[in-house]
Amino acid sequence: MLNKKTYCLLAILVYGKTFMSNCIAGELLKKGKTVLYQTAPVLLESVIDYKMSKQKNIENNFYKSVLDADLLIIDDLGTESLNSMKLSELFTILNARLLNLNNKVTKTIISTNLNINDIFNHYEERIGSRIVGYYDIYYFFGEDLRFKNLK
Ligand SMILES: Nc1ncnc2c1ncn2[C@@H]1O[C@H](COP(=O)(O)OP(=O)(O)OP(=O)(O)O)[C@@H](O)[C@H]1O
Ligand SMILES: [Mg+2]
Repeated sequence: MLNKKTYCLLAILVYGKTFMSNCIAGELLKKGKTVLYQTAPVLLESVIDYKMSKQKNIENNFYKSVLDADLLIIDDLGTESLNSMKLSELFTILNARLLNLNNKVTKTIISTNLNINDIFNHYEERIGSRIVGYYDIYYFFGEDLRFKNLK
């Protein structure tokens, strides 16, 4: 999966998405790649805070790495409260990374409990069509190991 030129979506029904994302992140970090992990709500809030900030012109490593980290992991897509600004920022991030606007190959993992229909319903068509058209989609099935630990 890591060697493919396409981008990965872990579109997911049950459990293990965050665990798997962190495993992939760990492997890439070992290879010296840059990885940014953030949940969708925190990522989008932080990007909007950055855009609103008066210090926008000062070099901002956070926003730079959102756009050009070798791997960006957006966890829990669908748990953010959406508005038009967030939709626009999400589109900008996904599109910039898909088009390699930073002149390097960047990969993105999105994990979500939404299904494909939900993605089209929750997000603009241009976001949905990019995810469905460009991402490899993996479904995760299984039991919640969190409960297992309690037994
Ligand atoms: N392959 C695995 N080996 C060992 N433990 C695992 C594995 N996959 C998941 N787990 C454990 O199972 C629990 C649930 O996994 P995880 O948090 O990755 O689920 P998730 O798909 O992100 O769920 P949610 O949609 O609630 O965020 C965690 O405690 C995690 O450490
Ligand atoms: Mg998770």
